[in-house]
Amino acid sequence: MEADSQATPMPRIGDKAPSFKAVTTQGDIQFPDQYAGSWVILFSHPADFTPVCTSEFMTFATLEKQFEELDCKLVGLSVDGLYSHIAWLRTIKEKIEYKGMKDVEVKFPLIEDITMDVARKYGMIQPGESSTKAVRAVFVIDPKGVIRTIIYYPLSLGRNFDELLRIVTALKAADAFSVATPADWRPGDDVIVPTAGSCGVAKERMESKSDIKCLDWFFCLKPIAKEEVLAGVKKK
Ligand code: BEZ
Repeated sequence: MEADSQATPMPRIGDKAPSFKAVTTQGDIQFPDQYAGSWVILFSHPADFTPVCTSEFMTFATLEKQFEELDCKLVGLSVDGLYSHIAWLRTIKEKIEYKGMKDVEVKFPLIEDITMDVARKYGMIQPGESSTKAVRAVFVIDPKGVIRTIIYYPLSLGRNFDELLRIVTALKAADAFSVATPADWRPGDDVIVPTAGSCGVAKERMESKSDIKCLDWFFCLKPIAKEEVLAGVKKK
């Protein structure tokens, strides 16, 4: 039997987020139960005191308020220990100035995972990339504890934070308005409504004065004003 076939299966979109208890820079957490009722992004980084990770942590911390406005909490993880995490975050605050960000305090929890138990549960250890470090994983988890989006990046590639904010916004908009969001969607762009199901209904829609416009029977769009989207997705 190959070693990999014994590995824990990787969580998938639509699965309940695997649960675990962990020590973090903000005390112990019980995941995901403690976050029930909120969105949460669980993300991993390869190692403390490394440059790409530092740029990412400074960006996450700077954007934390914007995630919070979407009622989305942040939880980080690496296979380093707690004292390394504490020393690294202190160094970031006291010494690092990057792209106009300085004096950056990371207030969200950073999990210590020296045993790699959590990283393995979430498929964050990908031996082809590294067997001693977690890849840059992102799990977007909804208020019911269900995984809604997964992204894995390799060690060398820093994440795109506009995209992470866009993902949470789009998932929340999809839930709030029962729609889907097309390529590169941003609040204010047209959304996709469930398909008409038959050419006749689509034709009616195409000819009607309704604000739904069908490009063909399988592709119908409608506008939703940016303000309405934002009112639907922002924390009440
Ligand atoms: C970094 O964050 O810079 C990094 C971490 C691990 C491997 C390569 C780069």
